Amino acid sequence: MDEVTVKVPTKITLFGEHAVIYGVPAIASTIPVYMNIKGKIFSEEVISITFSNKLSTSLNNITIRRDREEIQLRSDIVIIKKLLNYILTSIDLCEKELGTTRNRGYSLIIDSPLPTGIGLGTSAATSVGTIVVCLALNGYIENIEDYRQDIAKMAWNVEKTVQGVASPMDTYTITLGGLRYIEPNTPKAELIDIDDQIPVIVGYTNRKNTTAELVRKVRKLKEKDEIIFNELLNIIKTIVENARKAFLNHDIETLGVLMNINHGVLQSLGIVDMTHDTLLHMLRNAGAIGAKTSGAGSGGAFLALARSASELDKLAVVAEALGAKVISKGLCKDGVLLV
Ligand code: PMV
Repeated sequence: MDEVTVKVPTKITLFGEHAVIYGVPAIASTIPVYMNIKGKIFSEEVISITFSNKLSTSLNNITIRRDREEIQLRSDIVIIKKLLNYILTSIDLCEKELGTTRNRGYSLIIDSPLPTGIGLGTSAATSVGTIVVCLALNGYIENIEDYRQDIAKMAWNVEKTVQGVASPMDTYTITLGGLRYIEPNTPKAELIDIDDQIPVIVGYTNRKNTTAELVRKVRKLKEKDEIIFNELLNIIKTIVENARKAFLNHDIETLGVLMNINHGVLQSLGIVDMTHDTLLHMLRNAGAIGAKTSGAGSGGAFLALARSASELDKLAVVAEALGAKVISKGLCKDGVLLV
């Protein structure tokens, strides 16, 4: 294959963020908002990457020699530098796995409808997508279904290499697709197999801190009072277990209550910002039966659960009137796809 296009869903965490880093299970799902990555073999020994404007406003294209040691970028495009790190590490780990020693050239065009660093899995989607492109261009993927577990594991290794600490939640959810119960220690990402659509809006506001900063902030709290911290982890564990049952029982009311409690625990962990507090409060006033911050926090992704699909539009209007961006009215079943 000389040219390939990969369609990668983004994701939302429904329950258990932060605690998942300490071994507590979490529930996440892919959403029908896709990143597309087009890859080609390049004749020169370079990696050429073109970004869509949602990912980067200041840099559209960069070409890196395969023998690079340092990537020279202006400090104002630090987000892109991070993203490049995911891409280059994905190619390196993938080639290592394949035993390819040639310094092959690649051209990648990455088209994302979302900015990076808002808690909707764009970094994981970039890693998963790049790995699939690299495997396909090197002739390794015929039927993606046979490789999903391997791809998820590789993408998780990329996240751990780049970030230092990362749970398998984002990479496994995005690779496998659908609503997933993640056991981080195994790791395992079991499908919560439900037919009905969950009436939920997914959106985001600006985020003030990076995931790494917020993970460090939570760790400091743990160091300050281990006993209380462990109690909070136990509460999140119970929330996640009950939420899994509630999904299987189609019990939307219980899911709403659990979302609100989970949000309260995230507040206790100190990662909820004032914008989200106001926004989620207003969404509950407008009829949401549950609403929570999603992901690392300090703004970023959120979700709000309605009693039925007919109420989703109203919640979306309220969220947008308060300055948030709504990107989905529902979850999806897709994992990464070769198109
Ligand atoms: O980067 P975000 O906002 O999607 O946060 C990921 C969720 C954390 O649990 C905070 C980190 C992780 O690796 O699971």
